[in-house]
Amino acid sequence: MVQTIVVLGGQWGDEGKGKIVDFLAEKADVVIRYAGGNNAGHTVVVGEKKYKFHLIPSGIIHGKLNIIANGTVVDPEVLVHEIETLENMGFKVDENTLIVSSSAHTILPKHREEDNPAKSTHAKKIGTTGRGIGPCYRDKIARTGMRISEYVESDSRYVEKIKPLVRDTCYIINDAIDSGKRILFEGAQGTLLDIDHGTYPFVTSSNPTVGGALTGTGVGPKKIDSVIGVFKAYTTRVGGGPFPTELGTEEQTNAEGVWENIEPEYEEHLREALEKANEGDEYYQGKYMRLKGKEYGTTTGRPRRTGWFDGVAAKYSVMINGMTSIVITKLDVLQGLKRIKICTAYEFDGKKTDRFILDSKKLAKVKPVYEEMPGWDMDISGVKSFDELPENARNYLKRLEEICGARISIISGGPRRDQTIVVDGKDLF
Ligand code: GDP
Ligand code: IMO
Ligand code: MG
Repeated sequence: MVQTIVVLGGQWGDEGKGKIVDFLAEKADVVIRYAGGNNAGHTVVVGEKKYKFHLIPSGIIHGKLNIIANGTVVDPEVLVHEIETLENMGFKVDENTLIVSSSAHTILPKHREEDNPAKSTHAKKIGTTGRGIGPCYRDKIARTGMRISEYVESDSRYVEKIKPLVRDTCYIINDAIDSGKRILFEGAQGTLLDIDHGTYPFVTSSNPTVGGALTGTGVGPKKIDSVIGVFKAYTTRVGGGPFPTELGTEEQTNAEGVWENIEPEYEEHLREALEKANEGDEYYQGKYMRLKGKEYGTTTGRPRRTGWFDGVAAKYSVMINGMTSIVITKLDVLQGLKRIKICTAYEFDGKKTDRFILDSKKLAKVKPVYEEMPGWDMDISGVKSFDELPENARNYLKRLEEICGARISIISGGPRRDQTIVVDGKDLF
């Protein structure tokens, strides 16, 4: 029986973790955020309603117990704002639905100031979300930071709302596991943004990988039953850093601007992109994914850089996390593309390798080696089972399984809950 599941990102974030956590949360008792802060942006669509979470776990809309655990960094102003937004939407937020770890660290105004990409060349180079994440984690590691337990003793105006929610969460989590409760660990960011295993220095300042779920909560490795990695059917990245399968350049993507620039003529842009994509124009292949997948940041509205599925990076990510299965999201986005590519190896210095390259300077220079597969034109957003998918989509997914060396447990063909296909429920609740 599966009692504890870690859901984490296998790529550079925004894989659709929020949607998958929401889907699995129905059967969970406790949902826990273990790393990162409000640099995360998780969009959950239920019926006609869209919920955006930055800090509070996506389980809150199920009325489950949600925990912001010790591995996270908490901006009190943002936390209070999210609580109030949820309350205004009719959700009950109290110590029965939301608990904050006394050991989580506090993002202070000075951290945010230091991390402003408009003012700091370093933050700009990394392309940070500007939320003070890096400076806050730096102070934590330097032992000069402020834990939430200390913050709630201050006279800040946000204390009143937060103080009743603060607990020593490691006991609550371990007691819940010991009493047979079902626990979902909600990852933020992605494996390739991990401070240790990602494309350093173009990474975040925490461990989104599976180790972060342990240190970030105080749970031992033997208590974790499943590690589910979420991947898009292609790849995206927001912010700077190497991206081997990128289509078009970072500059071209950024020049398109935020979603508001595109929205008024969305349909025309989409039609033009598909036409040019199928004529073989690489920039437009990427632009088509960006438009069809609405690849604009939940946190900053920035356009996301797009590219083909990177099988080398994905296989690495499966290994780093010991994933027990993988989830493929946004399969619907590839609809209409006549040819689809998968990167199966990198070429570097005249040599071919199927291993990820950890040195970012070298990674920026690799040439992806592609395998090409025929696409499909059918709208798959309403499909309810693997067998109903078009043959070319099924073949594409089977090939992803082979390349990643992992079984697919769930396929997502749209943002809504009912657009979720469970292929193999062995490591799910
Ligand atoms: P997260 O950070 O991993 O939780 O992902 P985000 O929420 O930042 O970005 C994923 C976006 O894709 C959200 O807007 C989701 O509503 C949307 N989404 C999730 N799964 C699918 C899918 O299968 N198809 C489509 N078209 N959109 C999806
Ligand atoms: P979710 O949970 C995508 C990226 C930023 C930047 C780098 C460092 O929604 O998947 P930071 O503000 O963390 O210091 O920025 O990491 N980044 C994300 N990219 N999704 C996220 O979260 C991200 N959180 C941070 O764009 O490149
Ligand atoms: Mg996101």
